Amino acid sequence: MSIISPVGSSWVNLGIVLAMRTFALQADARAFFVFGDSLVDSGNNYLATTAHADSPPYGIDYPTHRPTGRFSNGLNIPDILSEHIGSEPALPNLSPELRGQKLLVGASFASAGIGILNDTGIQFLNIIRMYQQLEYFQQYQQRVQALIRAARTLKLVNKALVLITVGGNDFVNNYYLVPSSARSCQYDLPDYVKFLISEYRKLLMRLYELGARRVLVTGTGALGCVPAELAMRNTNGGCSAELQRAASLYNPQLVQMLNELNRKIGRQVFIRINTRQMNLDFITHPEAYGFSTSKIACCGQGPYNVIGLCTIFSNLCSDREPYAFWDPFHPSEKANRIIVDQIMTGSTDYMTPMNLSTIMTLDSRT
Ligand SMILES: *[C@@H]1O[C@H](CO)[C@@H](O)[C@H](O)[C@H]1NC(C)=O
Ligand SMILES: *[C@@H]1O[C@H](CO)[C@@H](O)[C@H](O)[C@H]1NC(C)=O
Repeated sequence: MSIISPVGSSWVNLGIVLAMRTFALQADARAFFVFGDSLVDSGNNYLATTAHADSPPYGIDYPTHRPTGRFSNGLNIPDILSEHIGSEPALPNLSPELRGQKLLVGASFASAGIGILNDTGIQFLNIIRMYQQLEYFQQYQQRVQALIRAARTLKLVNKALVLITVGGNDFVNNYYLVPSSARSCQYDLPDYVKFLISEYRKLLMRLYELGARRVLVTGTGALGCVPAELAMRNTNGGCSAELQRAASLYNPQLVQMLNELNRKIGRQVFIRINTRQMNLDFITHPEAYGFSTSKIACCGQGPYNVIGLCTIFSNLCSDREPYAFWDPFHPSEKANRIIVDQIMTGSTDYMTPMNLSTIMTLDSRT
């Protein structure tokens, strides 16, 4: 895997770059905030949680080659977005390094295992649920106010880019976690989806109230097609129809809800990322994206190498490049790069109402 080097061609250049970076941070850099689940968690596992990625071989292709809490062999989607924004990765909110000027880069509040609903991920200990992530965001702002005062803090938050990825676990780690789960007895699937969307709407409004003005919102991925589901649901290699149905009910209603929020607010605050289409692209045509497989995980065990967790005892592929999936649920760094390329420059089929390069151009004018 390539190691990303922002370093110029000489140490002199590096010094200039660093000096400019420091200046830019103090003046007008765009902060980046991340909320959600394991797809975007950058290591908020400082609590003794049971949903973590802090042992090898996680992080094997990360610049340090060490596990960081990211559910990836290397970088995750927020890291790659930070590269495009031109800033260092946003530190986990609970990181002891998140202080002083580092606060101005932004922060990641994401936590593996969580969902829109409080009862999602109940099998995991000490995960940081959405309401708690939003509370932490408020506390973070108080810390920044102590550093640069209230008016500049508000401006920093208003001008920031925000990413939120949540919802997949409300199916996988709630409704479909066990047969006859509490939620599946309470709701049929269409009503459950409606309930999720109405709860998600409240979370997004809260994010808006807390100052967020540019929020990238991912739909659920191709839930039924991740390698773990192929094996668990015995689909003969095809996608799980039930989980695909869930995603196909959920995603259009999410788009509708975001459009409605934007209309209500009177500006394009919420931008929808069509993660499902992005996933399906490399799931249906892995070769077209340089993968040899999207059904077999690089790290795991059993059929498709996707039973249980990715641990030091798992089978580990020696070359990560041909794999779309790093572990049974999470894309490889290479797949994450393809997703971020679509976020940056994708058509309206992928990004609604516009892609991130367009947003960055627009926002740089204001
Ligand atoms: C989730 O739990 C918190 C803390 O108990 C509570 O304040 C919040 O209202 C709950 N959210 C929902 C949607 O029930
Ligand atoms: C997305 O990005 C590309 C490249 O910057 C641009 O040409 C295109 O018009 C954009 N599409 C939309 C819908 O914003």
